[in-house]
Amino acid sequence: MNERQTLKINNLGHLEIGGVDAKALKEQYGTPLYVMDQAYIEDMCKIYADTLKKEYGDGMIAYASKAFSCLEIYRIINKMGIGADSVSAGEMFTAKTAGFPMEKICLHGNNKSSFELEYAVQNNVGYIVLDSYTEASELNEICKKYNKVQKVLIRVNPGIEAHTHHFVQTAKVDSKFGYSIGSGEAEKVVCFVKKQENLDLVGLHCHIGSQIFEYKSFELAVEKMTDFYKKLSDLYGYSFDVINIGGGFGVWYADGDAKKSCNEYAEYIKIISGALKRCVAEKSLKKPYLILEPGRSIVGEAGVTLYTAGRTKEIKGIKNYIAIDGGMFDNPRYALYQAKYSVVSALNMNAKKSNKYTIAGKCCESGDIIAEDVMLPEIKEGDLIAVLSTGAYNYSMSSNYNRNLIPPVVMVKDGESRYIVKPQTFEDLIRNDV
Ligand code: LLP
Repeated sequence: MNERQTLKINNLGHLEIGGVDAKALKEQYGTPLYVMDQAYIEDMCKIYADTLKKEYGDGMIAYASKAFSCLEIYRIINKMGIGADSVSAGEMFTAKTAGFPMEKICLHGNNKSSFELEYAVQNNVGYIVLDSYTEASELNEICKKYNKVQKVLIRVNPGIEAHTHHFVQTAKVDSKFGYSIGSGEAEKVVCFVKKQENLDLVGLHCHIGSQIFEYKSFELAVEKMTDFYKKLSDLYGYSFDVINIGGGFGVWYADGDAKKSCNEYAEYIKIISGALKRCVAEKSLKKPYLILEPGRSIVGEAGVTLYTAGRTKEIKGIKNYIAIDGGMFDNPRYALYQAKYSVVSALNMNAKKSNKYTIAGKCCESGDIIAEDVMLPEIKEGDLIAVLSTGAYNYSMSSNYNRNLIPPVVMVKDGESRYIVKPQTFEDLIRNDV
């Protein structure tokens, strides 16, 4: 466990989140249950925003809300003074309903619909990140209709492929996102967008991947992006006010991942800020406004999912399964990516971890696993199991598969708890059925 003041073992040997005992959470709300630590999210927002200000100056942290999206998270990040990255009309709608300032939104997507583009323009979204020629033309027409000039960035692909602990520089042009700098395609799109009268091309964007620990890959991205700026400035005299380096900062899930405190996560921001300051100075470029879009690292470690252990099945010499009352419908990340998680026996935290278990979900699918071969004390039916670091891409990727109900989300802070997403009901399951 990556312990902290708001995630610890209390003197009863229970897991405690935001000052609330996991036992009390189970008794009050039942399981499966997503629990989110508000203080952690607030700390991360503050530390990221302060670090950007101190280390770079003018810029914005835009929380990538695909990681965890609901009304309350937009209220919290707004209160903390940061912006948001949104990828659909649904996310924009949620942000708007929460009273989020739309000018602090960066809209992404490789296939934004006409409706989404128009919705963004009508609602005065701050930046739209373009990812195709026809999208640029269409947006230009929409802006004409509304007699507006929209600030846009172009998503480019700097040729850095980053995967968790490694990165490679490639001239790879095969990605559904962005236009490759290396192939010359990015330059052509820039020239095309520059000609659109109702689009104000303020800058460039890249996002090199997700769950990346290697600082060097972010530095390299900054170098490639500023090289490209320099080229465009020398060739065409273009200058840009904004650079957006995306998100992707790796977080702790399980053994093998670096354990960082909130303050230590700021290192990602420091590295990128330092690299950008250095690169623009070396290349004599105007210092742009820096946008960064961390998602996972703001909410990931804030989340814990509570489950109740159900049936166990021992396959002699092979596996010892414990089934839980959740599964891939609340956390599809093992099924999708073989993602690793830490699992704990939430009311028996100090016991010796003597048994090896595989935590299986309750869906009718063999691949519905949450964690394979994890060490735990002996688990009996009814025991409370917690899976850590589930704040990002769990609730947001949940489904009603097998007509299971998506668990509610409870926010904890200073010993208090409250629903931020209420439990679904069976009625919700058939609401739109005809
Ligand atoms: N900006 C852009 C343009 C992105 O595409 C993403 C993530 C982010 C920012 C935020 O990245 P983060 O800081 O959260 O790593 N479902 C996958 C993750 C997909 C991430 C997609 N884009 C998972 O569960 O690991």
